[in-house]
Amino acid sequence: MDQPAPLIDPFQRAIRYLRVSVTDRCDFRCVYCMSETMTFLPRAELLTLEELDRLATAFIGLGVEKLRITGGEPLVRRDILTFFRAMTRHLDSGALKELTLTTNGSQLEKYAGELAAAGVRRVNVSLDTLNERKFTKITRRGRLDQVLRGLDAAQAAGLRVKINVVALKGVNDDELFPLVDFAAAHDMDLTFIEVMPMGDIGNEDRLDQYWSLKDLRAQLAERFTLTDLAERSGGPARYVRVEETGQKIGFITPLSHNFCESCNRVRVTCTGEIYTCLGQEGHSDLRAPLRASTDDAVLTEAIRAAIRLKPKGHDFDYSRQRVDGQISRHMSHTGG
Ligand code: GTP
Ligand code: 5AD
Ligand code: SF4
Repeated sequence: MDQPAPLIDPFQRAIRYLRVSVTDRCDFRCVYCMSETMTFLPRAELLTLEELDRLATAFIGLGVEKLRITGGEPLVRRDILTFFRAMTRHLDSGALKELTLTTNGSQLEKYAGELAAAGVRRVNVSLDTLNERKFTKITRRGRLDQVLRGLDAAQAAGLRVKINVVALKGVNDDELFPLVDFAAAHDMDLTFIEVMPMGDIGNEDRLDQYWSLKDLRAQLAERFTLTDLAERSGGPARYVRVEETGQKIGFITPLSHNFCESCNRVRVTCTGEIYTCLGQEGHSDLRAPLRASTDDAVLTEAIRAAIRLKPKGHDFDYSRQRVDGQISRHMSHTGG
């Protein structure tokens, strides 16, 4: 059979990267991500694992080569390894180039081996501090030692680890070098992320939290020689090599340097909504087309229709000393 036409959006960007949020639940309540009193979706609202499979498979049929499983915390969804194992067939066929996940690491000790066996080669783990008390303060209920054991387990299983650090002024700005040293000592990649105005987070103030990666990079450059790398991981990060240590550090800069012109991704939530931009409210429903027929024609047409509505980019902006482009949903809804 002929290959169907790939997904191209109105700005001529090819969509090759799908992020699927498999649950909105999380065992943490990070201060920049959720309010303390989050209400989660009733389980009955969620797509089943079979439906998630059909959906991901449809996207892969339309040219998606990179599949990232997110949440909430993807590894708290019951039987999620069944879904990973089901996706192995797309790696085996060569249609899918990368199957991966973004996780808070709390369950990695348990699942790292099975993830590796399913064909996962790399994991991105959120870790904003190496200080135990601060970790519990940021995550409101996480335990640092559990995550560190998860990182060990991931590496022992042969997974490449990338640490994601949300840069937070007054919170982890005193840990820049300890985090860099930790990543170097453990042979992990490291990416810093600017905090985005996603969802109501109670009493916390985004402007107070915001630590521009321009400043962070300048601080790094005082101690290290940084060389820009052309290399990409398929996501929005831009990388540098630290010449003194040989390590790779990434910067995700939605605020200080917009990267939307090269956007190659869309997101699907655990209820089957497709968000074609993290930083916009617009979305379309894929659950009804998915359930309307067992024939995928209706679904693939719904996917194409959604891609035709992909906006140019987000409108996040703090430069006027106020939060512009605020989005009502939390990061955990669309999986970051
Ligand atoms: P790799 O490049 O494969 O390592 O992954 P990634 O950076 O795409 O994935 P990860 O889940 O680690 O993403 C890190 C964070 O970058 C996300 O949680 C978001 O906060 C941010 N991010 C990812 N994609 C976008 C995007 O399209 N727009 C914006 N504004 N932020 C994004
Ligand atoms: N801004 C930036 N990054 C965020 N994350 C969660 N909420 C935000 C936010 N408001 C990050 C997490 C994790 C990834 C999924 O998104 O720390 O690394
Ligand atoms: Fe959970 Fe990740 Fe949000 Fe933290 S950032 S509350 S770990 S989804």
